[in-house]
Amino acid sequence: MHIFNEKAPLIAHLANSKNRNATIGFVPTMGALHQGHLSLMQQSISENAITVVSIFVNPTQFNNAEDLLKYPRTLEQDVQKIALLNPDIIIFAPTVTAIYDHEISSQEFDFDGLEHQMEGKFRPGHFDGVGTVVKKLFEIVTPTKAYFGEKDFQQLQIIKKMVAKNHLPVKVVGCAIYREPSGLAMSSRNERLTPTEREKAANIYQILLKAKEAFRTQSPQEVSQLVEHTLANHPDFELEYFQIAEEETLLPCLTKKETTKYRAFIALFINKIRLIDTLSLN
Ligand code: PAJ
Repeated sequence: MHIFNEKAPLIAHLANSKNRNATIGFVPTMGALHQGHLSLMQQSISENAITVVSIFVNPTQFNNAEDLLKYPRTLEQDVQKIALLNPDIIIFAPTVTAIYDHEISSQEFDFDGLEHQMEGKFRPGHFDGVGTVVKKLFEIVTPTKAYFGEKDFQQLQIIKKMVAKNHLPVKVVGCAIYREPSGLAMSSRNERLTPTEREKAANIYQILLKAKEAFRTQSPQEVSQLVEHTLANHPDFELEYFQIAEEETLLPCLTKKETTKYRAFIALFINKIRLIDTLSLN
């Protein structure tokens, strides 16, 4: 296994591959790896000569100090999971200083308004933190392709926007959401749910499927009401937002347009644990 904690040795190692014109696939993560992360790695392996996975809990994207503190850190198990998947994967697990030096702060980005919707409203500064770290990681890894999950659809669109606006030489690939058999979208945060809470959390996907069905015949406002009404019957859920939005702009859907692609987005708390999910509607 190749594991790097510092930038310079990784850059030197990758320079070798670049001389051979080998393509580099990159999967940025914050660790606590699950099958969702591994599915991104699998896609990268199948499409590139080399795959680099970063494991870095990025402090600048947490707008809540407690959330950062509680974020699971399981490097040893993560390395084992990656080794089992493919021992040729290169792991970059930097320290905070390796990435930020002594200034842990975000660059300010203009993502053409994508950052003001949904997650952006409820997690101020979050996407500046994501943009900052992903840009730094791209500069170090210089990937040919970078893989992001549709689980964080807004993040995926924001990274695509950053790449386009800055003409970065990387192709951003969106990957399907990996779900548990119950339908619950895999997430590192699921580990914090009790077995009963986990069972309840599976309802999130059922609610999204119901919204998709309703969206065929009903207005976005009616669908939102239906979801809010359904959630009122689940006292363990505390809804933060449910939003039907255009896939490209992430602007709320007020009236349906024939040729526009729409998605439902949901964020809610179960016993203070924040979960998000999304589903394409048409
Ligand atoms: P993290 O939450 O660890 O997720 C890493 C990548 O895995 C993201 O692209 C995310 O969308 C994807 N992912 C998570 N769960 C998934 C699932 N169930 N199915 C498919 N893909 C899934 O997202 C981040 O880290 C960070 O913001 C990061 C981009 C690494 C920047 O710090």
